[in-house]
Amino acid sequence: MAVETASVAERCRHRFPIFKERVYINSCSQGALSDSVRAAYGQYLHDWDERGAPWDYWLERQEAARNTFADLIDAASDEIAVTTSLSAGVASLASGLRFARRSKVVLTDWEFPTIGQIWHAQETRGARVAHVPEAEDGSIPPKHFRRVVDEETKLVSITHVCYRNGAKLDVKPIVAIAHERGVPVLLDAYQSVGSLPVDVKALGVDFLAAGVLKYLLGSAGLAFLYCRRELWEHTWPTAIGWFADKNVFEMDIHDYSPAPDARRFQSGTPPVPSIYAGIAGIELMQELGIASTQKHVRRLTELLIEGVDELDGTVVTPRNPSERGALICIKSTDAERLVRELGSEGIVTSSRSGNLRVSPHVYNTPEDVKAVLWELGRHRRLLA
Ligand SMILES: Cc1ncc(COP(=O)(O)O)c(C=O)c1O
Repeated sequence: MAVETASVAERCRHRFPIFKERVYINSCSQGALSDSVRAAYGQYLHDWDERGAPWDYWLERQEAARNTFADLIDAASDEIAVTTSLSAGVASLASGLRFARRSKVVLTDWEFPTIGQIWHAQETRGARVAHVPEAEDGSIPPKHFRRVVDEETKLVSITHVCYRNGAKLDVKPIVAIAHERGVPVLLDAYQSVGSLPVDVKALGVDFLAAGVLKYLLGSAGLAFLYCRRELWEHTWPTAIGWFADKNVFEMDIHDYSPAPDARRFQSGTPPVPSIYAGIAGIELMQELGIASTQKHVRRLTELLIEGVDELDGTVVTPRNPSERGALICIKSTDAERLVRELGSEGIVTSSRSGNLRVSPHVYNTPEDVKAVLWELGRHRRLLA
């Protein structure tokens, strides 16, 4: 087992130059830069230089990104909107919902701020927002959705893996509860795509939003929104732009006709440089294997949890591997300080809500985890 753990990371680690200088274990925030993503940015500049304004080709690249996203989550290409952030896709979706007889949007207390903010912003348009809170044991049991989701509910909007405690929601039973009541489900999969296989058909979700800069190894500026084909016609987004129109190059300022498919959630000029990079990042993850990365990372997170236990620290993330993603959160008396202390030893982590966030990915090794544990041992007083 240990040999296998080393080999998947050892196979790709040389492609991420940052490891020459640092222990990078912060993919919940940003994936490490690979040689292929760097080369993709170079290719973009080369194409721009050589060809001037190759917009036909750049729009083909946008279609390539759409196909890559579709393949990643087992959707069809016309079910994908290529967006510039997760927020842009979700805001466009929100703008397309009418809050009339069904006006309630149900969220959890684990959402990323953008999700809470976008849905609360719809209160001015008649939406009511209900939160499913954490239970006393810190979990959010699917059955708690039964208390909140009803015939007045328009949408259930949930996160796959929580950005501040690493807990993974049990999506399928929540979808079953929502669908029993005729309510569609939006999944924020930003903290899961690339770190574990995400399949919209298997999960049964109706909408899914994510972006490329974490476990998909891309950088800022590229994201996507999946909309199940049966729901295209039920939303009429008003936060749009010419790339959401049925016929982008008709250039008609006297009419708006939304694209018949998920492109209706798009906006303006596509983020071409980020598209080059995002495709390269996703292809690299697919080549390395997302399912095998999940297994690899699970072993690393187990090692980390055992080590924190030995130091008498508190792991906030659930212990059961099926209830967590790639992110492990460790309670601290001063998380920012702990991030700085680790950083001064060349170990890159991050913090949220008083927790240290350690998020191994395909390129991390047991030695990286041991390096984190060694430093946590030296700064035990910062563990809570
Ligand atoms: C779970 C989750 N959702 C949403 C976002 C924000 O995405 P964007 O900035 O692309 O809107 C993040 C970014 O950290 C995230 O972790």
